[in-house]
Amino acid sequence: MCGIVGYVGNKEALPILLEGLKRLEYRGYDSAGVAFIPSGGKIGVERAVGKVAELEKKIAGMQDSGFVGIGHTRWATHGIPKEENAHPHRDCKNNIAVVHNGIIENYQELKNALCARGHVFRSETDTEVIAHLLEEESASLPLEDRLARVAPKLIGTYGLAVLDARSPEKIVAMRLGSPLVLGLKDDEYFIASDPAAFISHTRDVLYLDDREIVALTPQGIQIFEGGVQKKKEVQTLEWDVMKIEKQGFPHFMLKEIHEQPKVIEDVLRGRIDSKEGLAHLGGLRDVEKKLREAKRLIIVGCGSAFYAGSIGKYMLEEYAGIAVDCELASEFRYRNPVFNEGTIVLAVSQSGETADTLAAVHEAKHKGILTLGMVNVVGSTIARETDAGIYTHAGPEIGVASTKAFVSQVAAFALLTLFLGRQRNMTSVMGRHIIDELAALPEKIRIILSQQKDIEKIARKYADVKNFLYIGRKYNAPIALEAALKMKEVSYIHAEGYPAGEMKHGPIALLDSSFPVIAFAPQDSVYEKMKSAIAEIKARQAPVLVITTEGNTEFSQGVDDVIFVPKTIEMLEPISNIIPLQLLAYFIAVAKGLDPDQPRNLAKAVTVE
Ligand code: G6P
Repeated sequence: MCGIVGYVGNKEALPILLEGLKRLEYRGYDSAGVAFIPSGGKIGVERAVGKVAELEKKIAGMQDSGFVGIGHTRWATHGIPKEENAHPHRDCKNNIAVVHNGIIENYQELKNALCARGHVFRSETDTEVIAHLLEEESASLPLEDRLARVAPKLIGTYGLAVLDARSPEKIVAMRLGSPLVLGLKDDEYFIASDPAAFISHTRDVLYLDDREIVALTPQGIQIFEGGVQKKKEVQTLEWDVMKIEKQGFPHFMLKEIHEQPKVIEDVLRGRIDSKEGLAHLGGLRDVEKKLREAKRLIIVGCGSAFYAGSIGKYMLEEYAGIAVDCELASEFRYRNPVFNEGTIVLAVSQSGETADTLAAVHEAKHKGILTLGMVNVVGSTIARETDAGIYTHAGPEIGVASTKAFVSQVAAFALLTLFLGRQRNMTSVMGRHIIDELAALPEKIRIILSQQKDIEKIARKYADVKNFLYIGRKYNAPIALEAALKMKEVSYIHAEGYPAGEMKHGPIALLDSSFPVIAFAPQDSVYEKMKSAIAEIKARQAPVLVITTEGNTEFSQGVDDVIFVPKTIEMLEPISNIIPLQLLAYFIAVAKGLDPDQPRNLAKAVTVE
């Protein structure tokens, strides 16, 4: 989704802004722009539709662009992607430039009033009202004070950064519900919606909280809340620039698929006690007693995080004996969920910034419910706003369609199952068994990844189909949905995921020889049921690709393609079974000439509703 980067310091701003915008490309966007203040003191703005490379062409060779600037990648909400709608947006007199993530919900009302007072708008965006509102404030006030006066007039969410030609060494920024993080390096300062934008310059960061306003100048940063200056602690990020580069892989998606053995190792590191069959989750220590007494867990998330939660529900019910619901955060937030005593809400989110998931957390907190986070991005809003939590340690995920982060969430659910299970009825023998199987997963994933060439061949065969049906049962039912999601996200092929038991209640009507079905049929407790479903599909002449257990010869005839995965316990099958389907989706996208890293219309972190 939209990205922000800003710089003040002793270096030419434009190259730093462009580099930052490129690092934000992965978030998904449709146009980009920059504002800067050359030594003449007038604001320069350049914008372009399409990739950052288009913007780069426009500003190639530009010199003396000054030492301060802001940049933006836009993901259209109000107004189509065109240059006039790209950020930065200016006031009537071209003194002020604003970049904004989020949505100003009352913009139409504000715009009507501003127009009535003589302001002339140049875009269809909601953002532009901010520039005009700032214009109305007295220029004798510092820019941060002017922003503080404008903020209460804005209803909605924002992370925004502002330049004013009349204070040419300063950026002012503010957030409400949309992330902003500061980067600090000697006398250079950065602001961004995601630290990836400046990670090649510094790992020292400071996260802004809602309603904080920050003023950045080469002399330092000042943070204010309610007009009062405050101090905040600088944190050092653990990841570095290597982690956000492709390192020889053609795409981030493929690189991240291949990182998954290591991701499992990282999720488990320091958290398992093989002797006692226990999981140590430091982030839950403070709420251990409340968790022991918990009666019901409500998992909330969106997209792949929701599917990871759905798998977590199966695990927790089966092994920890706790009642679990898993809900789409976007629905949860507008229902009136009933919270009994002992209910806990667990928000699952890679980015920790998804607007709906965050709103679900707020709703639960408002009702006095204990909230937990299962988050990848350290220091993100959900990580900070929940009472306790588990980091998934997948490292930065750049591919828009989640792969390694999803797998890390499923592994984290296995740890949570151990943790809660051992607090309740799970024996140490069972605990040790789960730990052994978890520890064996990285090697098993490596075996699956070594079949990449065969999967690529299968992908070429199916690249031109128009539809796919994915089916699975029990632990593989949510995996059917996640695998179908991967396919539609990156290949734009219509793909439906269904619990196999539901096939006869509708989807079977779709099947014919042009409608391939992908069936998860490992040799587990529902294997025989899956075999029957596969026979029913074959009877309708639909091509079938089966995912089954290594060594199983039962599909050597009668189906079209088979992918073998090493045996593991049922609760961990989702981890091994999703890997070949990530590869299949990836290779079909590549075969169709698409960019799997940045699928059309999608955003990495959906920070607006
Ligand atoms: C977007 C991404 C998905 C992701 C979902 C939830 O739709 O494209 O890959 O699963 O958001 O994101 P979160 O950061 O909350 O896990």
